[in-house]
Amino acid sequence: MHRVAYVNNSFVPMDKAFVSIEDRGLQFSDSVYEVVMVINKNLIDFEHHIKRLEFSLNQLSIKFYINKIIIKNIFQKLIKKNSLKNGILYLQITRGVQPREHAYKKNLKPTFICYTQKKTFNLPNNNFKSYKAVTYPDIRWSRVDIKSTSLLPNILASTYALKNKAYEAIFIKNNKITEAAHSNVWIIKNNTIYTHPAKSRILNGITRLKIIEIIKKNKLKFKEKTFTLKQLYDADEVFITSSGSLITPINKIDNKKINNGKIGILTKKLAVMLISNYKKQK
Ligand code: PDD
Repeated sequence: MHRVAYVNNSFVPMDKAFVSIEDRGLQFSDSVYEVVMVINKNLIDFEHHIKRLEFSLNQLSIKFYINKIIIKNIFQKLIKKNSLKNGILYLQITRGVQPREHAYKKNLKPTFICYTQKKTFNLPNNNFKSYKAVTYPDIRWSRVDIKSTSLLPNILASTYALKNKAYEAIFIKNNKITEAAHSNVWIIKNNTIYTHPAKSRILNGITRLKIIEIIKKNKLKFKEKTFTLKQLYDADEVFITSSGSLITPINKIDNKKINNGKIGILTKKLAVMLISNYKKQK
């Protein structure tokens, strides 16, 4: 089956989906993106993703008017055209095309790209898997709260993880854990759940927001507080979250086993609650 993408105003076959070589997204990573999960053909947390997309566009003064109804319609058509049941929708908006110059001109026409990718999610059933992570220095810029495609440090970290047979690279800045190359990081110690505050140094993940909602609703012990590398190694449970990985348990970090290499009880409980929340979304 041929995959279909959406570029600017049209649906096109994947092998005919092109942008200009003078697109600022290509030349300068002058662009923002979102990854939206699709479960059972349904868009997950669409409104939250649109809100974050608007935030990213505004922070970079990329003038793209978001029409939620039109974007939802494009997403739903792509899901249909690509017969996507479970996977992700990738959306990228670049500042547009301009002869190469660092400073951008006013009134550029942003480039809009969107396509789908099939994915098998790690679900909290009998086959729920846990993975190794490695630690890596957080060498990113200070505006990682903007979901921009400027991801070189994340790419280097992820490739280091891959080479070391790990699923994710956890970032350390000034001996504090910030987040990971493509997900947010959580630890559990004495039944209290911890994650880095979203005020700075991390991307405020949509999955993260959802889990905080679930934690609060179920009156679980929770602190939005930074933690050190030692606290990470000494945690009772560790997990990461993202729209591509939902809740993924971590059973080893560098050479240190977490929870004797087993999936933690609270991690699994949260993963079950998250997926049941997703199943309710239509
Ligand atoms: N990554 N932190 C970083 C650095 C991320 O790249 C992501 C998502 C997250 C989690 O955000 P969310 O829960 O909204 O997916 C946190 C996406 C999936 C990616 O780049 O592929």
